[in-house]
Amino acid sequence: MIEKLPDSGLLLSIESSCDDSSLALTDIDSKKLILHKKISQEIEHSHYGGVVPELASRLHAVALPKLLESTLSYMKDITAVAVTTGPGLSVTLNEGVMMAKTVAKLQNIPAIGVHHLKGHIYSLFIEKDTKFPMLSIVISGGHTMVVKVKNINSMEILATTMDDSVGESFDKVAKMMGLGYPGGPIIEALASKGDASRFPMPVPLRNSPLIAFSLSGLKNAVRLTIEKLGGKEQLTEQDMHDIAASFQKAVIEHLIQKIKKIVANEKEIKDVSIVGGAGANLAIREAFENLCNQYGKRLHTVKLEYCSDNAAMIGRCAIDMLKYPTEDIFNLKVTPSKKLSSGMKL
Ligand code: KG4
Ligand code: ZN
Repeated sequence: MIEKLPDSGLLLSIESSCDDSSLALTDIDSKKLILHKKISQEIEHSHYGGVVPELASRLHAVALPKLLESTLSYMKDITAVAVTTGPGLSVTLNEGVMMAKTVAKLQNIPAIGVHHLKGHIYSLFIEKDTKFPMLSIVISGGHTMVVKVKNINSMEILATTMDDSVGESFDKVAKMMGLGYPGGPIIEALASKGDASRFPMPVPLRNSPLIAFSLSGLKNAVRLTIEKLGGKEQLTEQDMHDIAASFQKAVIEHLIQKIKKIVANEKEIKDVSIVGGAGANLAIREAFENLCNQYGKRLHTVKLEYCSDNAAMIGRCAIDMLKYPTEDIFNLKVTPSKKLSSGMKL
């Protein structure tokens, strides 16, 4: 039984919650990222228009040991292991957790479990100090939420999606047009040359007082638009540009309309961040930059390489967990999905 948590040496972090296998080494004392490796499975899944869990799991089983080899020369300096335990796909999370347990056992060092969304929130701090309190807008493939972050152990969900996530809706729209996976970057690129006023889309929950997100209705509106044009086979390039632009505009209007209310309410919080895969979208960033300027807040965005899933963010988060440990720090139980709703703590 390991009782003492390390305050020096290197931390090995592992991320395998979805379709990215990633490992990182971070210096515990200085928080400096020493090594960061990632193998993405986008090409393999793009044939299916989305992530196939069993295939993802098999690819992790090959990629993770390969990545671990690049850390072997550092092994004697590794004093702790951190691994994503959820939310994510259970079969892929298990691959990472098994590796974490094995390394911890062989090296006789502690292994700690990290919440994937806390990891995304910490992606902002991979190369800088934490800045709390902060409102974190998490827009990924699995989640869409606004979190009020006071510190590593105090993160409250203020709003969440009632159905699809932002990233997921981009993926589905791309799939409907017969394009690849992940859909986010494809739709963003198409939208940049499209006419966003050609296909007026319904802005979700526009007339509702609810501070929540919903993207499935919008996705259906896109489906109907494609059907009206004769199906995906009949779409011209211009149609695709205009559909992508009209869809993206509605997503942004929806996000801004709801998050504006939160930003206005949280007067004492001056810092706002956008994290997660869809946080790479430049049109979304620009819209939030304007919103923050309007309300006298500072917007923080994540380096593009750290927006999508990666182990560096898991390592950075784990270092604060080591510094401010809670009772369940050694819990490595895989928790694939939990209904996360407004008012809950992360
Ligand atoms: O954070 P992430 O790597 O994985 C999850 O934790 O889910 O996010 C992946 C998601 C995918 O749905 C992808 O389509 C979306 O992020 N994404 C984008 C963009 N780049 C990635 N969505 C919109 N615009 C983008 N530029
Ligand atoms: Zn993620």
